[in-house]
Amino acid sequence: MKNGSTKVIMIGVFKGGVGKTTTAINLGHALALQKKNVLIIDLDPQGNATRGLGYEVTELTPTVYTVMKGISRAEESIGKIKENLFLLPSNRTTALLETELASEVGREKALSRAMKAVDGFDYIILDCGPGSTIVNVNGLVYATDVLMPIEIGVDSVEGVDDFIKAKDAICQKLEIDTRLMGAVMTKVDRRLTLTETILSHCSASFKGKFFGQIRTDTNLGHARGHRQTIFEYDIRSRAADDYAKLATDVIKWFRKNKAYAN
Ligand SMILES: Nc1ncnc2c1ncn2[C@@H]1O[C@H](COP(=O)(O)OP(=O)(O)O)[C@@H](O)[C@H]1O
Ligand SMILES: [Mg+2]
Repeated sequence: MKNGSTKVIMIGVFKGGVGKTTTAINLGHALALQKKNVLIIDLDPQGNATRGLGYEVTELTPTVYTVMKGISRAEESIGKIKENLFLLPSNRTTALLETELASEVGREKALSRAMKAVDGFDYIILDCGPGSTIVNVNGLVYATDVLMPIEIGVDSVEGVDDFIKAKDAICQKLEIDTRLMGAVMTKVDRRLTLTETILSHCSASFKGKFFGQIRTDTNLGHARGHRQTIFEYDIRSRAADDYAKLATDVIKWFRKNKAYAN
């Protein structure tokens, strides 16, 4: 049973390069700056969120792997990044879970089980890697809500439909009710003619749900290179404004739409 008031948001599509990690890190920090207690869980064996937050992982550092294997306790494996912002890191070992959990009963619930003892967070944000892996399915089971980043591009709409189908199939099979809270459009560039068409299509298909927008800003890439969030790298950037607004809108959205408790 999750702490009733904790919102666990999976930043999810099972596709790479759409802005998941960028959103996990910067939405996380933006919420922390608004005095919310935030935990980011890196579920990607590539450890991009871990690196992006400047967190060092050695062979001895507890990670999401050791937590999901029961080798370390979740509450003792969480690192502090800065005020109100915490991380459960990942590295290559996370990939081992695919084979090591494969034959275990209840393998989809390893993360939920391990996180039971953790409380006190307002928001837990899950950054996931590509593919419908066992680790990502664990994320979906643990999450209360899924927020989909959608990169504006020719195949963005198909990627969305594929993910929604996969999510619904997994939820039905496992009898979980993880909610699709909505979408955040990433790399929005209004100078491109396709942009308005895709924005209006997507805002129509997410009617009544959360709908956010982040404009294209190369500062996001530079910030990652410096292992900083956009608020550390350039607080006056367009992306900092957009992620701060996204956080405000997420907080408002949850005030209206109560969090689920799985
Ligand atoms: N709004 C944006 N404007 C410009 N570049 C972006 C934006 N969002 C993400 N990127 C860049 O796109 C690339 C992929 O983003 P990332 O967050 O790593 O995607 P994912 O985690 O889905 O694979 C990165 O180089 C990142 O800096
Ligand atoms: Mg990523």
